[in-house]
Amino acid sequence: MYESIEMIVRSAGEIVRGATHIDESVQEKTSHCDLVTKYDGMVQEYLRKELLTAFPEAGFYGEEEEVHDIAGKAAYFIVDPIDGTMNFVRHAKHSCISVGLMQDGVMEYGAVYQPYTDEMFTARRGHGAFLNGRPIRMRDVPLSESIAMFGSAIYYRDTIPATARLMQETLPLILDFRRSGSAALDICYVAAGRADVFFEACIRPWDYAAATLIAQEAGGIASALDGTPLRYIDRCSVAVGSPSNYPELITIVRRILNEQDMKGRIK
Ligand code: IPD
Ligand code: CA
Repeated sequence: MYESIEMIVRSAGEIVRGATHIDESVQEKTSHCDLVTKYDGMVQEYLRKELLTAFPEAGFYGEEEEVHDIAGKAAYFIVDPIDGTMNFVRHAKHSCISVGLMQDGVMEYGAVYQPYTDEMFTARRGHGAFLNGRPIRMRDVPLSESIAMFGSAIYYRDTIPATARLMQETLPLILDFRRSGSAALDICYVAAGRADVFFEACIRPWDYAAATLIAQEAGGIASALDGTPLRYIDRCSVAVGSPSNYPELITIVRRILNEQDMKGRIK
């Protein structure tokens, strides 16, 4: 079953790699910084058709058009057809396809595919995390030895002061920041030891569902930023780290959340 999901995700990568008319197909979604192209829709439609042909019982929860067919389904796919759409629009070649499988309320499987570098990150609950079939493991280092990746949650303007506070508090403690434009790849980079910790004040399930399972299976911890479990529905903040740096990050967040004007700014 898991091999066929991986094959479907990999072949969807050909649509992304082969995209020839990106510039002409860009449209605004919720604002001028939230874009969509015809390829986002094409990849989602391809995944929906192929995944549901292979697994007709499953539901589907996808980013584009907010396809939300999960009521009464024991199993459903959580899908981001192109995570890092702004990078895709700018031909930056740092985007991915993210497919998670939720089974009876727990994330069971995740695949995140970077089609330009042909990197396939996968994990199945209890079976470890892999990059192109080879096991990956997170580095277990304190914040003082951590590269931090973060997302700006730019679609949710009310979160900006909280993101700024988090950066202000963490920057003096860490090695440095990275901001890539794809939450799913950021979290997989943490899983693979290319960075060490990730945070974003508000994202949607398709951005993190597959990648956080990959990070957990690589030895990491993932939750909402206040330390409560990820919600996998609607909006949620995300924190990912190792046993060493995750508690440090959560302590900083809880301190910030106590500040008067920070109430409600981290989802
Ligand atoms: C976005 C990216 C970005 C993150 C946003 C996401 P999209 O997804 O993952 O890094 O900061 O919160 O929504 O719009 O490119 O699919
Ligand atoms: Ca996304």
